[in-house]
Amino acid sequence: GSILCVVGARPNFMKMAPIMAALGNLRPPLALSLVHTGQHYDAVMNHQYFEALGIPQPDINLEVGSGSHAIQTAEVMRRFEPVLDAKRPSAVLVVGDVNSTLACALVAAKKGVPVIHVEAGLRSFDRAMPEEINRILTDQISDLLFITESSGRENLLREGIVESRIHFVGNVMIDTLRRNLERAVPLSKILKDAGHEDFMGGNAGYAVLTLHRPSNVDDPATLRTLLDTVLKISRKLPVIFPMHPRTHAMIKNSGLEEMLKVPELLLLPPMGYLEMLGLMKNARVMLTDSGGIQEETTALGVPCITLRNNTERPITVEEGTNTIAGQDPVKILAAFDEIMRSGGKAGRIPEFWDGQASIRIATAIHEWLENGCLS
Ligand code: UD1
Repeated sequence: GSILCVVGARPNFMKMAPIMAALGNLRPPLALSLVHTGQHYDAVMNHQYFEALGIPQPDINLEVGSGSHAIQTAEVMRRFEPVLDAKRPSAVLVVGDVNSTLACALVAAKKGVPVIHVEAGLRSFDRAMPEEINRILTDQISDLLFITESSGRENLLREGIVESRIHFVGNVMIDTLRRNLERAVPLSKILKDAGHEDFMGGNAGYAVLTLHRPSNVDDPATLRTLLDTVLKISRKLPVIFPMHPRTHAMIKNSGLEEMLKVPELLLLPPMGYLEMLGLMKNARVMLTDSGGIQEETTALGVPCITLRNNTERPITVEEGTNTIAGQDPVKILAAFDEIMRSGGKAGRIPEFWDGQASIRIATAIHEWLENGCLS
């Protein structure tokens, strides 16, 4: 058998690393190839991840770059089709919920090539979120669906997915986290490299902010309100803010750069994986609109305030350290004050977030291939 693996954007990279490692250890060996769609192309969004995580060099980079959702998705499809024709794999494996995930799954399904989806079944029930559309559609055309938490099973069954296709294996991103925790870059080094050794968060504790969802950063008024709230927080606890390129551009274009020039707020370029892990590990609190960080903070036992009105990862709220605060300054500040007062929710590690998810996936794929991809 042979598996063609697909990555496109930053949150895909850390998921693919342990999957390819586990598939590579199967006996007899599977032929693996890796396609990078090029959805993310900046060095900081790319190379640092591939190198740090030991992901094999992609066999092919489709170099699609940025564009509207339609253009980006269409370009991936157009460029992926001949690659699939040439490689003729037993199956295509996609992860997560980015445009590249749906685009490649769709090309494969239409050609009768079985699709494996890792991180299936997550639902925010918010169709204004582009990733929600990608999740629903990818799952509908997938043959083998690996879920990270039990909510995924209910969601998929409700949408008519046959139960035998669904496998609860846990969270591959936590495999990566556990494997790399010891290698996390300490804050002191991050500050030194950035030329900000004097940043106060170094001794006094700090919060970390990440922001990139269109719903938070594309409307200047919403973005300003969020940043105002962050400034209020920074007066109580210094804030480190590694900025996604989309967010950086929006802040510049909306003239919000000036208001961020305060000593309690440290702006940084996007961080590599091991840097981000170092920042998160010792943070007093994370403020984020990322999906992955909600899970990573739960695994690390670090309090997380999610700057969205919903989450597709409810286990992080039910069992983990996550609090959903939306964009409302009152709610965000209340959640922050509560964490400063009590240390935040203790939380526990969800089932199968034990560093072995990729092994379970490889075993299931092996059996499935032996059975002629029947499920
Ligand atoms: C994508 C994913 C999102 C994921 C995020 C993580 C979709 C629908 N969204 O959003 O789920 O959480 O990645 O980062 O697939 N840009 C650069 N350099 C790059 C990449 C992007 O400068 O390497 C800028 C471009 O201006 C681009 C913008 O960021 O227009 C948005 O990039 P895009 O890949 O379309 O979506 P993300 O917002 O990164």
